[in-house]
Amino acid sequence: PSFPLLASLLLLVPGASAYGFRNCIQSMVDPRSFRCIQRFLSDVASAVDDLPASPTVPAASSRHLPQLRKLGLAYNRLEMIEDGAFENLGALVTLNLSYNRLTNLSEGALHGLSNLTHLFLQHNPLSTMHPSALQPLGHLHTLDLFSSRLASFDEVACRLQSLLRLRVLNLCHSNLSSLSSCCLLPPSLSTLHLCNNSLQAVDSGPQLLRHVRRLDLAYNNISNVTSFAGTQLQKLRYLLLKGNPLDVFDLLNVSRLPPSSLDYSGLRLGREGVSRLCQHLGNGTVRRLLLQSNGIQELEGKPFSACPPVRALDLSWNKLRSLRCADWLLGEEQHGALQSPPPPRLRTLHLNINTIAYLHKHALKGLRALTELRLDNNLLTDLYRPSFADLRSLVTLNLRNNRISVLFPCVFSSLSRLQILDLGGNNIRRLGSQSLCGLHSLTKLYLDGNHIKEISSDEFRPVQATLQVLDLGGNSLEYITKRQHKPPPFRYLHRLYDLKLPGQRPYGMKIIPPQFFRGLSALRELFLAENKLLSISPDAFDDLRQLQYLSLADSSNGMQDLPPGIFKSLVCLQRLNLENVGLHSLTLEVFGNLGNLTSLLLAKNQLQTFNASVARALGALRYLDLRKCPLSCTCENLACQGWLPRAGQPLGYVYSFDTHVCFLDAGLYLFSATAPVLLLLTLLPLLHHRAYWRLKYHFYILRSWANEHWRRQDGESFQYDAFVSYNSADEGWVLEQLGPGLESSQGSFRLCLHHRDFEVGKSIVDNIVDSIYHSRKTICVISRSYLQSEWCSLEIQLASYRLFEELKDVLVMVFLEAIPERELSAYHRMRKVMLRKTYISWPPEPAAQPLFWSKLRKALRGRCAEEDEELHPLDGGDEPLLESVSQL
Ligand SMILES: *[C@@H]1O[C@H](CO)[C@@H](O)[C@H](O)[C@H]1NC(C)=O
Ligand SMILES: *[C@@H]1O[C@H](CO)[C@@H](O)[C@H](O)[C@H]1NC(C)=O
Ligand SMILES: *[C@@H]1O[C@H](CO)[C@@H](O)[C@H](O)[C@H]1NC(C)=O
Ligand SMILES: *[C@@H]1O[C@H](CO)[C@@H](O)[C@H](O)[C@H]1NC(C)=O
Ligand SMILES: *[C@@H]1O[C@H](CO)[C@@H](O)[C@H](O)[C@H]1NC(C)=O
Ligand SMILES: *[C@@H]1O[C@H](CO)[C@@H](O)[C@H](O)[C@H]1NC(C)=O
Ligand SMILES: *[C@@H]1O[C@H](CO)[C@@H](O)[C@H](O)[C@H]1NC(C)=O
Ligand SMILES: *[C@@H]1O[C@H](CO)[C@@H](O)[C@H](O)[C@H]1NC(C)=O
Ligand SMILES: *[C@@H]1O[C@H](CO)[C@@H](O)[C@H](O)[C@H]1NC(C)=O
Repeated sequence: PSFPLLASLLLLVPGASAYGFRNCIQSMVDPRSFRCIQRFLSDVASAVDDLPASPTVPAASSRHLPQLRKLGLAYNRLEMIEDGAFENLGALVTLNLSYNRLTNLSEGALHGLSNLTHLFLQHNPLSTMHPSALQPLGHLHTLDLFSSRLASFDEVACRLQSLLRLRVLNLCHSNLSSLSSCCLLPPSLSTLHLCNNSLQAVDSGPQLLRHVRRLDLAYNNISNVTSFAGTQLQKLRYLLLKGNPLDVFDLLNVSRLPPSSLDYSGLRLGREGVSRLCQHLGNGTVRRLLLQSNGIQELEGKPFSACPPVRALDLSWNKLRSLRCADWLLGEEQHGALQSPPPPRLRTLHLNINTIAYLHKHALKGLRALTELRLDNNLLTDLYRPSFADLRSLVTLNLRNNRISVLFPCVFSSLSRLQILDLGGNNIRRLGSQSLCGLHSLTKLYLDGNHIKEISSDEFRPVQATLQVLDLGGNSLEYITKRQHKPPPFRYLHRLYDLKLPGQRPYGMKIIPPQFFRGLSALRELFLAENKLLSISPDAFDDLRQLQYLSLADSSNGMQDLPPGIFKSLVCLQRLNLENVGLHSLTLEVFGNLGNLTSLLLAKNQLQTFNASVARALGALRYLDLRKCPLSCTCENLACQGWLPRAGQPLGYVYSFDTHVCFLDAGLYLFSATAPVLLLLTLLPLLHHRAYWRLKYHFYILRSWANEHWRRQDGESFQYDAFVSYNSADEGWVLEQLGPGLESSQGSFRLCLHHRDFEVGKSIVDNIVDSIYHSRKTICVISRSYLQSEWCSLEIQLASYRLFEELKDVLVMVFLEAIPERELSAYHRMRKVMLRKTYISWPPEPAAQPLFWSKLRKALRGRCAEEDEELHPLDGGDEPLLESVSQL
């Protein structure tokens, strides 16, 4: 299935036709790279057929794609690769097939990929590979099989025989239990990842690993260290053993592994273990000592004093809580009063991901050669100037993700060589004008993810001569007036080329005040996405003559259209991201000056047309993303002549405008979806009006049927002979005449009278329905007041349903007074009943009453009143209705 309008990604090539893709997205930066990810593809062909043969020749004319270099097919549903599926992708360098459902690589699956360098197959349930499946990949450099189901290392090793350029192989997380193999690995293979398997030893035989330089054995179950002794590892430069239950000192004793090649991370050394290790290392040369995840809590007692001088020390992922004095690092002899201290060696110190809350002011003392210090992801709250006093060589300082809330004046003033300062993810609310003083070399400053509410030009003044990158994303900058009330904050930063201000919390920047970016004459990239902009001052970008990239994506908050002339100075702009900014139209006033623009992202806007004059003004445009815009399928919209100014031919190949799409009206879907609902909504009141009581009656019947179902097997055994429906005004007659007349005489009838027999506590309607249903007949005692009463009307209606619908004649109508038809006609249901039914009227004169009683008894006993000859059907004439009965 295709979603035509969702995938209207167009490629416009000067001098050729434009084309678009159904399943793939071309990289904006590298036109030879395509991503066809998460498209529910189940075969390779539907992706490959989609691609253009080259950026200048439309696809479909040929399946030969000699220019394609990068293809991403991750997150699809590929279960198998057809033989020869990639046959024509001879230039392909990178193929990403991760996160699919491949179980099997057949012989011809990768045929033709002779230039393929990187193949990513991670997260596939791959369990078998044809012996020559990988043979075509003579140029393969990297093979990633992370998390496959290749349980046999031997099988994998033998498949790799022809890969003479393979250098990196990842077999982590693949359930390998042994390394024994009758094939050797290609000699070029230098990096082998075998982490998260279930190896118990290095049982590879002596030869297998002799060319390997980097070996990752993390998270296996290796406890037997003697197996290392029998293995040739002379090229090994890096060995990771983290998460194995082995004793590293045994390993060093037993094997001939050079101690400097080991990564000592994750070996549960603790502080004592570190001391012991340092003694073991003696005065050999160890350039870097990697001690991550060793549960080290403190460094009292100088654990490093016996260590050879190292250049890099990694203590991240430990449990350090504070750093006190610097002698934790320096050997004792270096403190001897008489000796001059040896030149400090430590260049790189990683203390990140600990729980350091306190940095003693002498903690870093003497580290004069240090160039990189990582203290990120700790719990630091305060920084003091003396802590950094000796770090004169420091180039990179990472303090990200701590709890720093205040930068004291000149706290970094000794760091005159510092180039990169990362203070992201802290609690900083404001910068002072002296916060950055002394940072004479600073080029990159990261302040993202803090709570800075305001910025002013003075704060950045100390770094004005050098600063090139400034990240202020995810802070709390917000502007509420359109007036300029302060000097533009960046006005001194003439060298800044990258400025990030996206995602100000919680509600975005809202307004970009006039002249806001003044002074940024070198700026090349500006990120303003996710800022819920209500308005941008038309002169905001006036100084950005060097700007090449601008993102305003996801900024719509009622701004709708951009002010005219806003981009007028951006003559160098090449890439413009306006995704989801609520644009309704493209106008020349806004887009007319962007003659150098090559990529324009307009996805998720309200655009219905793509204006041809704007298209003509964007003469350099090569890449246009219009996905999820409600473009209407009119031909003047896209396929129009002149849409490609230099093409001279109409659009040849625009997937998004498959012709049948033009006839496929979304309105039809909407109509089909909403019409039944609307119809129902229209009918409901009508139904309610016309059939309310019927529905209600059926509902009650259903309910009482459910209640009574098991109690009353025999539907014909009634509790009463008759339910008497009457108005309270006629109660006298019912109690004095009808009641005694029927209940006490011979063959007496059992009557249901509401004042007497209704169940207390039940709703009236329930009582009525039950009574009607539990009585063989219903006697309606009709008078004018009866007709006017709502309850009586309900009762006669309910009873009449049994007449009309169940075809059970239960109604016996007794008129107490003569009612002319014109009066009756207002009660049309009554009239309808009377047309079907006979009735009896009460004669006031006592002589006629015996006849009345006998008719009534007969009617009550009878199964069908129509059989009763003495009762006359109503003829509906003009004469008073009750005439005929009265005459009886
Ligand atoms: C493979 O790459 C080489 C060098 O980049 C190139 O000369 C050759 O044409 C490519 N092969 C194919 C089939 O594209
Ligand atoms: C392969 O694609 C997946 C999914 O897009 C991505 O996460 C992964 O980084 C890609 N691998 C490479 C090496 O590009
Ligand atoms: C692998 O696929 C090939 C062809 O696609 C098939 O012949 C072979 O039986 C499959 N092997 C396994 C083990 O499924
Ligand atoms: C791992 O391999 C063993 C046999 O070596 C097998 O019993 C087990 O099911 C496999 N586990 C997985 C997750 O494939
Ligand atoms: C490897 O195993 C460890 C321990 O079981 C686990 O923490 C880690 O996430 C696993 N790594 C991968 C990549 O699965
Ligand atoms: C690790 O190996 C030992 C034997 O050396 C075995 O008893 C244990 O079950 C293994 N553990 C795992 C998780 O496989
Ligand atoms: C360790 O492995 C070696 C051979 O690699 C073997 O001879 C020895 O018995 C094993 N030791 C243990 C305790 O399993
Ligand atoms: C240090 O190395 C020298 C030779 O370089 C050696 O003579 C000396 O014994 C070593 N010291 C220790 C403590 O290993
Ligand atoms: C494109 O950019 C160049 C500078 O890179 C500039 O000289 C030229 O005027 C620009 N073209 C347009 C049409 O703005």
